Amino acid sequence: MKHLRIATLLGREASGEQVTVKGWVRTKRGNKNVAFIALNDGSCVSNIQIVVDLSVIAEEQLKTVTTGACIRVDGRLVASPGSGQGVEVQAESIEVYGTADPESYPLQKKGHSLEFLRDIAYLRPRTNTFGAVLRIRHAMAYAIHKYFNEHGFYYLHTPLITASDCEGAGAMFNVSTLDMNNPPRTEDGKVDYSQDFFGKPCSLTVSGQLEGELGALALGQIYTFGPTFRAENSNTPRHLAEFWMIEPEMAFYELDDNMDLAEDFLKYLIRYALDNCREDLEFMNKMWDKSLLERLQFVLDNDFVRLDYTEGIRILEESGRKFEFPCHWGCDLQSEHERYLVEEHFKRPVILINYPKEIKAFYMKQNADGKTVRAMDVLFPQIGEIIGGSEREADFGKLYARVEELGMNERELWWYLDTRRWGSAPHSGFGLGFERLLLFVTGMSNIRDVIPFPRTPKNAEF
Ligand code: 4AD
Ligand code: MG
Repeated sequence: MKHLRIATLLGREASGEQVTVKGWVRTKRGNKNVAFIALNDGSCVSNIQIVVDLSVIAEEQLKTVTTGACIRVDGRLVASPGSGQGVEVQAESIEVYGTADPESYPLQKKGHSLEFLRDIAYLRPRTNTFGAVLRIRHAMAYAIHKYFNEHGFYYLHTPLITASDCEGAGAMFNVSTLDMNNPPRTEDGKVDYSQDFFGKPCSLTVSGQLEGELGALALGQIYTFGPTFRAENSNTPRHLAEFWMIEPEMAFYELDDNMDLAEDFLKYLIRYALDNCREDLEFMNKMWDKSLLERLQFVLDNDFVRLDYTEGIRILEESGRKFEFPCHWGCDLQSEHERYLVEEHFKRPVILINYPKEIKAFYMKQNADGKTVRAMDVLFPQIGEIIGGSEREADFGKLYARVEELGMNERELWWYLDTRRWGSAPHSGFGLGFERLLLFVTGMSNIRDVIPFPRTPKNAEF
């Protein structure tokens, strides 16, 4: 008989029907007449209670049914008098698929610390918390594709291996098949990349944007959604070396249109989570962050503030607040500054625009003042920057001059510059950090806890 998922069974009537359920044992308790097994199969945070009458199933057979073991239960779906749920399964037979020796299985007691669970990241999906986080992660990925599909965007698959540095920050991982201990050398002693796999130095991409722009200038509206890589040595609760990014890019969008899209998109995703992940969100609210549901609803109910960088700096300077990093016009905002604006001053999400060109990437549209660019960062409570984007420089001359000015490798960017030579158009886009979104939606406070296998400096286990 085909088994049913526990989420489905828990929604059924207590019909007495014959059912099969398969899952992992969370706990077993009882006495010499009856045993109660809490079984979970990952389909929802709730367990289903399996009631074992020890006159039907021998106690001997239950010995290997311990926490962590995987079992199949055949029985009847009956009303549950005391488990807090409508139904439970009255077991008629149990098959043990895989035992879990209580001496060695690490997930015995409840309430392990998140730090401990990071060390056993390969097992943590079996906990309630990570089950909930991973289901929410799935739902958000699905909602992202759904949103763009409903709004006429095409999913463009941009490459992960690249020869260009989109953000110009130089924090890239090299991709090479050369023997690192004995690389071929040119006559002047440099590594001879012409003999490397791609015939030139290559890296893992920090962003799919540059290729995304090519897509937008042909298909009108595209998005990428894939892994991106940054070799910056930032050991913070908000940075990963490998993270997923969603990057829409739109022809004929100016900065205001870009902001409208970012706000609508974020609200859609949050609403989707509230509508579709209710049980998991309630669990996260109860366990980790008592104001989570309230904060999600708050973001839905309020317009985002739109503010010039210059004005933001003025507010920070006049705040009288002692920041760890003092700030002034021209400085890159730290998360303490972003959070001050969002959490204390405006008490709602803020979109900061028109940043100094020195602290932003080469491709952003230059403003007439000669000092600022049409950048936008969306700043969120608890998170700081959740989105970074801009209107793009569409003018060949201005873009070329900026590339020159920054001493960038125009030979690697020739194809990008060419888009401004033929059929250039105003266009805009942004990047949403998927894990930053998940921090906000799940209420978790460390980015390592919203991705199944975090990659951070000195850590690539599993
Ligand atoms: O602001 P960033 O660097 O912007 C870009 O990469 C642009 N090319 C995006 C675009 O316009 N298409 O990164 C975008 C977002 C950030 O706002 C943040 O949410 C996330 O990506 N992010 C990170 N998330 C986790 N770990 C890191 N190390 C991150 N760096 C950026
Ligand atoms: Mg940024």
